[in-house]
Amino acid sequence: MSVYVVTGVSRGIGFEFLRQLSEDPKNLVVGLVRDKAATEQKIAAELGDRPNVHILHGDLTDYATLKQAATDTAEIVGERGVDYIVANGGLVSSLDAYGPIGALTDKVTEVEAVSSQLWRTNVIGNMHLFNLFIHLVLKGQTKKIITISSGMADLDFINNCEVDIAGLYAASKAALNVIVAKFNAQYKKDGVLFLSISPGLVDVGRFENTTPEEAQGLASLMGNLVAYAPHFKGPITPEESVRHIRSTWEKASIEGGFGGAFISHLGNKQWV
Ligand SMILES: NC(=O)c1ccc[n+]([C@@H]2O[C@H](COP(=O)([O-])OP(=O)(O)OC[C@H]3O[C@@H](n4cnc5c(N)ncnc54)[C@H](OP(=O)(O)O)[C@@H]3O)[C@@H](O)[C@H]2O)c1
Repeated sequence: MSVYVVTGVSRGIGFEFLRQLSEDPKNLVVGLVRDKAATEQKIAAELGDRPNVHILHGDLTDYATLKQAATDTAEIVGERGVDYIVANGGLVSSLDAYGPIGALTDKVTEVEAVSSQLWRTNVIGNMHLFNLFIHLVLKGQTKKIITISSGMADLDFINNCEVDIAGLYAASKAALNVIVAKFNAQYKKDGVLFLSISPGLVDVGRFENTTPEEAQGLASLMGNLVAYAPHFKGPITPEESVRHIRSTWEKASIEGGFGGAFISHLGNKQWV
């Protein structure tokens, strides 16, 4: 029986976290989203009535909404506090998704706008989230704050596999990994595990409707991944990814040396 706060549960991997975690009626799941009504409709249509699920408004780029969500969460969970925060919500930018970093040279305005959005959402939004919810985690039993990062931010992976795509997005996740480590540096002594976990390459519908140029970039990434991991057969489902991530966060502990670490869904540095 645990209390979870998960961001970005409107779709993709976040919706799967919500689905799996709320399957056990003894768990309490608070989901933060930008569009509360649409998410509640989706839950009713796809999962039916789940009285252990609470959906709150929370936009990572809007501090006031996160603050209100923290206040509302405190009321919902009461003295139990929060056992797990799953910082899943994030901006996956399309501008740089499949093209090499050099191709961004003549897109100055777009690069600056997207970089600013990535920074505000993936980095600062999560920093605010952790600061606003930490008192609830300190009250909880399990005290785990899990951040969904990306293997795209791993330097060895980038350099060894020559992954030249998704430069802006990967840089935002690398910065987020640092923020997570800084929180670990402060809160490890209080028994709070801060951990960054990459979900693997997960099919959330993003690979459909690509332009021929994007398809080329995607094919090149798949080629790199097969060379990196010969067992790689393609993207995994959200169901498989979330199952692995949950198993990994259950095994991870401060005592085991995972405070502030950055690992894959498999619990190591194997990114797919
Ligand atoms: N899929 C992969 O292969 C993969 C690989 C590595 C890492 N990841 C990470 O996994 C996490 C989930 O990604 P996904 O693949 O499920 O992507 P997705 O389908 O694009 O979902 C992203 C989620 O984040 C939410 N979000 C975006 N901006 C937000 C904001 N400003 N405030 C609050 N929520 C916001 C979205 O909400 P809206 O519906 O309101 O837009 C949505 O729920 C992300 O952190 C992503 O970086 C994914």
